[in-house]
Amino acid sequence: MRKKIIAGNWKMHKTVVEAKTLVGELKKAVGGVIDPVVLVCPPFTALTEVALVLKDSEIQIGGQNMHEADSGAFTGEISAEMLLTSGCSYVILGHSERRALFSETDKLVNTKGRKALDAGLIPIVCVGETLNQREDGVTEKVIEEQISGSLDSFSESDIMKTVIAYEPVWAIGTGKVATPEQAEEIHVFIRKLLAQKYGGETAEEITILYGGSVKSSNAVGLFEKKNIDGALIGGASLKADEFAAIVKAMM
Ligand code: PGA
Repeated sequence: MRKKIIAGNWKMHKTVVEAKTLVGELKKAVGGVIDPVVLVCPPFTALTEVALVLKDSEIQIGGQNMHEADSGAFTGEISAEMLLTSGCSYVILGHSERRALFSETDKLVNTKGRKALDAGLIPIVCVGETLNQREDGVTEKVIEEQISGSLDSFSESDIMKTVIAYEPVWAIGTGKVATPEQAEEIHVFIRKLLAQKYGGETAEEITILYGGSVKSSNAVGLFEKKNIDGALIGGASLKADEFAAIVKAMM
């Protein structure tokens, strides 16, 4: 059975005090839920305090990014071990904002993914096409390149520990959600790519999340699709009642 996950990507939002309030509310609403896995990815500054609030709950914590080195002179960066020891069990890698604004390539995402797995973190590897690419009819080609580059040299046991998030760039933060059919089509395509590399049985086990303007009002239609195993949520994860409603839509 594939693991279902509802993940909140808070991006650069919430001070420590605000973060504690939000997870306190979430804990009350969905703190005991184990299926789906409920995951919050706060800014680095709030990780340890969030971990304290969530200590006796089932809610998991993730980083939004990490550096690929163990340690060193990398001003402003954070390592896998720092995430782990701050309470994280997941890390988002290759988010389209990292790719577009911080020039992250598939190769770098791959190196970070390798490091995350070696450290014992579950990588959530993000892929997705831009509006131009969709309009040019190259969506599948783009996804294929991102999947093969970002997951290059991942063994079968690596991929079994990895989560993939399909996030069409044109749907992120725009209010323009992909239709359940559009999302399912690419999820099926990603699973087919994984099946080619790892075999059908392994591909069936891999969690593929959809991300891009997911809200409680559109979540049910997405979650009804066979290959959509949950969501990576930005804006709607910043309000406890809205995020909890999305979690409940998956239960
Ligand atoms: P959004 O962001 O839900 O605000 O569109 C999704 C994401 O960037 O992961």
